[in-house]
Amino acid sequence: MNHTNEAWLEWLDLLAENDFVIVDNFISDELYGDIMQFFHEMEESDKLKKAGIGAQQDFQVKAEIRGDFIYWLDEERDTKLAPFFGLMDELTLNLKRFCYLSLSGSEFHIAKYPTGTYYHRHLDQFQERRNRQITVLIYLNKDWKEGNGGELVIYKNGEEIKVEPIAKRLLVFKSDIIEHEVLTTQVPRYSLTGWLLHQPAGIGYLLS
Ligand code: OGA
Ligand code: NI
Repeated sequence: MNHTNEAWLEWLDLLAENDFVIVDNFISDELYGDIMQFFHEMEESDKLKKAGIGAQQDFQVKAEIRGDFIYWLDEERDTKLAPFFGLMDELTLNLKRFCYLSLSGSEFHIAKYPTGTYYHRHLDQFQERRNRQITVLIYLNKDWKEGNGGELVIYKNGEEIKVEPIAKRLLVFKSDIIEHEVLTTQVPRYSLTGWLLHQPAGIGYLLS
């Protein structure tokens, strides 16, 4: 257990009420260090690839929509991130317990936005695949300051809520209703992004 039941209950209450929740210092300094070490190893071995639009296999690259470079994680292969996956299991368990969500499966990537890049306003669901239920972001930018850019903007009820991508901050939101945007970053911007998936019974029928 990384966090107490009381903490989870408070956060997930906020998620149920507002469709998003922000938790500062969600990960420990140790986990932050492990993730950043992994991130830099992937960067140095050239594993980060230009992200496309659409489903994972869809390799259509549209620089005008998003400018990030990503690397899809694999729990079996990327064993150095085991504590991160443990934490995501804890999140999933608590979403099932407290929010009665029917979740099965997940997908995560690390993402680097080079200076000058952004991600235009969008929803995290694709026309052809609507099983993303919960978006999870862990921001990794130590010493982020005003003017560095790369804020995430949440569009909700005509309001714009700006979230600074500061290190160890968690942002969770409902993938099917929260439109959002990444503002142009003025420094390289690091994050770990993922989705908890909803896989209803009879998926074959729903996809046909
Ligand atoms: C995404 C996304 C937001 C962020 O990858 O779909 O919207 O803050 N990322 O990195
Ligand atoms: Ni998104």
